[in-house]
Amino acid sequence: MKQKPTMEILGTGRAVPDRILTNKDLEQIVDTSDEWIITRTGIRERHIANPGEPLSTLVVKAAERALTDAGVAPEEIDLIILGTVTGDSKFPATACVVQELIGAVNAAAFDISAACSGFLYGMQIAESMMLHGGYRRILLVGGEVLSSMVNWQDRDTCVLFGDGAGAVVLGPSHGEKGILSTYIKSDGSFRNLLYSPGCGSLNPPTPENVGQMLHTIRMEGREVFRHAVTSMSDALNQALDKAGLQADDLSLLIPHQANLRIIEAVGKRFHAPADKVYVNVDRYGNTSAASIPIAIDEARETGRISSGSLVGMVTFGAGFTWAAAIVQF
Ligand SMILES: CC(C)(COP(=O)(O)OP(=O)(O)OC[C@H]1O[C@@H](n2cnc3c(N)ncnc32)[C@H](O)[C@@H]1OP(=O)(O)O)[C@@H](O)C(=O)NCCC(=O)NCCS
Repeated sequence: MKQKPTMEILGTGRAVPDRILTNKDLEQIVDTSDEWIITRTGIRERHIANPGEPLSTLVVKAAERALTDAGVAPEEIDLIILGTVTGDSKFPATACVVQELIGAVNAAAFDISAACSGFLYGMQIAESMMLHGGYRRILLVGGEVLSSMVNWQDRDTCVLFGDGAGAVVLGPSHGEKGILSTYIKSDGSFRNLLYSPGCGSLNPPTPENVGQMLHTIRMEGREVFRHAVTSMSDALNQALDKAGLQADDLSLLIPHQANLRIIEAVGKRFHAPADKVYVNVDRYGNTSAASIPIAIDEARETGRISSGSLVGMVTFGAGFTWAAAIVQF
């Protein structure tokens, strides 16, 4: 039996930097090839922020588009949640920067750190805060400028990531439409398979630590791949169970856009035909917390999501963290 939703999506928006870095461009930077990147990841190009284009710039654009789409004024927003690991600075929260820039004067604002799962973690937080905290208009954003922490000499990782932001405005649900279920999970014992060791209190940004590139991304790709497929499948099953639904009921599956082979493996586990699995990793690369909200906005714009669509969203990221949600549009 379907759950009665607490909240629904009132509007969506996305923003990516204008600058595009193609696989051919990467061939000039590291020992790689267009063919290798496409075959192993499905990525053809990614958007990369220009110097002087911090995360808040992208988040503000995505948020303003979502507010316009929802017909909600900035002053009506009472909560801003931003999933990111690449905020403008260590503190304050970039959500506070965004609050000021969009004029959401009546909001509380904070960031959450769950890497690629940030947006769906945020969705569960938003749901509880609407249910138990009385918030009525929540701006939930996933955004990253991962290019700021990529080691451009490390071909294992630098080909994978891109920058962007995606936003949704959430309000109380008055009918069948809305978030039917959310599920979040973590396992910190795998934290050293995908991480950035430097620039925190463990390894402060001393010249030595920065010289050793401790502030950049480290990853055991094969291990991450294996866990991603298993955990995303688990999360989607959990969210479907909570909503009292089967995978067949979904009209669209939006998996985290990290690697086409991961996306296809997850789709296969749920016997989802290719036209029911959303893919845009070829154009954006892995935008971490931004990946799912960018896909939601694009899918609405192109008619892949319309009124009546039942959409499964599922993600996996550093921590490890993983999460899923079922949304009735
Ligand atoms: C990173 C990833 C694409 C690598 O693909 P893979 O098939 O596992 O490749 P391997 O790591 O086994 O490397 C195979 C070879 O390609 C090489 N290689 C790695 N990156 C390369 C690149 N950009 N260009 C060319 N060759 C590359 C490796 O050095 C290795 O060479 P070797 O066999 O001589 O040692 C894949 O493991 C992956 O996508 N993992 C998940 C990453 C991810 O999604 N992270 C974020 C999760 S939120």
